[in-house]
Amino acid sequence: MRSARLVVPLVALVLAACGAPATGSQVQAAKGALVGVTMPTTSSERWNHDGQNIKRDLEAKGHRVDLRYAENDVPNQVKQIEDQIRAGAKLLIIASVDGSALTKPLQLAADARIPVIAYDRLLRDSPNVDYYATFENFRVGVYQAESLLTGLGLRTGDGSPGPSTGPFTIELFAGSPDDNNATFFFNGAMSVLKPYLDSGTLVVRSGQTDFQAVTTLRWDGETARKRMEDILATSYRRTKLNGVLSPYDGISLGILTALKNNGYGPVFPIVTGQDAELPSVKSIIADQQYSTIYKDTRELATVTALMADAVLKERTPPQLNNLNDYYNGVKVVPAFLLNPVSVNKANYHKVLVESGYYTDDQLR
Ligand code: GAL
Repeated sequence: MRSARLVVPLVALVLAACGAPATGSQVQAAKGALVGVTMPTTSSERWNHDGQNIKRDLEAKGHRVDLRYAENDVPNQVKQIEDQIRAGAKLLIIASVDGSALTKPLQLAADARIPVIAYDRLLRDSPNVDYYATFENFRVGVYQAESLLTGLGLRTGDGSPGPSTGPFTIELFAGSPDDNNATFFFNGAMSVLKPYLDSGTLVVRSGQTDFQAVTTLRWDGETARKRMEDILATSYRRTKLNGVLSPYDGISLGILTALKNNGYGPVFPIVTGQDAELPSVKSIIADQQYSTIYKDTRELATVTALMADAVLKERTPPQLNNLNDYYNGVKVVPAFLLNPVSVNKANYHKVLVESGYYTDDQLR
C-alpha cells in the first residue's frame, strides 16, 4: 500500500515549501528514528565521504543511522535494504549500484510505509521513490566537454573561440550504463561536442561515439584502462591522441595509465574527470589529468539530511528545486539539484583548498 504522502500533487509540494509545522508527537516520534543508508562502494573515495557526511548530519539531528556499503554487488545491496526494513528503519537513503535493480526492496519499503530518498543516483522503474537529492547532472557533462575544448585550445575559459583550430583526435568514455547519471553526463557532454564532431574539428578515430559503445560498467578504472589500450593499439598507431572525455576520476586514472603504458607523457592528452578525488587532484597539479568536476559531497549530505529530517517529521521537504527532469520510467521524482564546479590547475586552490574541502598538506 502506498502512503498518503506519496499522492500529494507536485504543485502542493512546491506551495508547501515551508512545510506545515509538525505536531509535538510527530517530532517526538521522529527523534531517534533509525535511518537506513546504503552506498554503492567503499572503493571510491567520494562514497566514503558521502556516507560519513550523511551519518554525521543525521546523528546531529538526533537520528540513528545504519550505514552500509554494497561493494558494487546488487544482491548485496538488495539484502542490506531488506535488513534495514526488517530492523525497523523509518526512512531509507539509497545510492544505488544499479538504479533499476531495487524495485522489489522498494516495494517492501512502500508496503511498510517507509519513505525513500534516492541519493545522487536516481532509483528507476519504481513508483516507490519519494525524493531525489543530486547535482545538475546534465551540466556536469556540459562542463566536462567545455573543459576538454578549453584544454585543447578550441575555446577560452569565457566561452569565446580559443587560439587553436584543430582538427584534434579525441576518444569518448561514459559511466556505468545502469546508472541514470551516466546518460545525463554523456548527453550533456555531447550537446557541446556534437557541432565540433559534425564539422570534423574533433575526430573520434575509433568510431565509437554511441553511448552504449563507450560505457564503463560500474565506473571501473581497470575496464577503462583496457578499453583505452585497445583503442590506442587499433586506432592510434600512427596518429597521436589529443583528448579524452572521461566522466569520472577513477576512469581518468585508468585512461592515464593506458596512455603512460603506450609512451605518452610528460605532456599528456587533455583528460577530463569528475568528483575531485584526491589522486586526481594531485594528478591535475602534476599536469597529467587536465580537469575534474567538483561536487561538494558535504552539501549533498546536508541537503539530504534536511530532506530526511523533514520527511520523518511528516513535513514536505523545503529543499526541492526540480520537479520536471527526473522521470524514472514510472514517475517524475521531485528533486533538489546542487551546482557542480569545473576545476583545473588554475582554480583548484581557490575551489578545493580555500573552501576547506582539502588542505594543502593533503595535496602535497
Ligand atoms: C555517479 C556519480 C559520480 C561518480 C560516479 C562513480 O553516479 O554521480 O559523481 O561518483 O557515480 O562513482
